[in-house]
Amino acid sequence: MAIRTIRKDGDEILRKVSRKVDVIDNRILTLLDDMKETMYDSSGVGLAAPQVGVLRRVVVIDVGEGPIELINPVIVYESGEQIREEGCLSIPGTRGQVKRPAKVIVRAMDRKGETIELTGTELLATAFCHEIDHLGGILFTDKATEIIKED
Ligand code: NI
Repeated sequence: MAIRTIRKDGDEILRKVSRKVDVIDNRILTLLDDMKETMYDSSGVGLAAPQVGVLRRVVVIDVGEGPIELINPVIVYESGEQIREEGCLSIPGTRGQVKRPAKVIVRAMDRKGETIELTGTELLATAFCHEIDHLGGILFTDKATEIIKED
């Protein structure tokens, strides 16, 4: 495993749309492992592949309940709304209030290629939405109502 360089806001790769994963090969498995290591190294709760310069639909999340790996994630259900303060490893020193669904169900593949469905509420719902947005080139600052820059 290796820590990869996190691309920062202003890098045009963060604005591109990621491609679906067709085959889960060793490159994708290594990407998942490296993304987890990179996320934990930076104390993040989520990371999407374009943030490490790879335009594939791959996401890792850990909101404190253990790692979640998502390949080709899609939101198949959402309800309610919540407003939560967000940050992003690609936009250090910036926080913002973002309105998201209160509950989402995500369908994806796990690393074995099995279809999984996960339900998220509270922080996990926000993390699902935030990370899937990255796969479409969308950053939380595009949606935040109040943006606070530290220092
Ligand atoms: Ni982010």
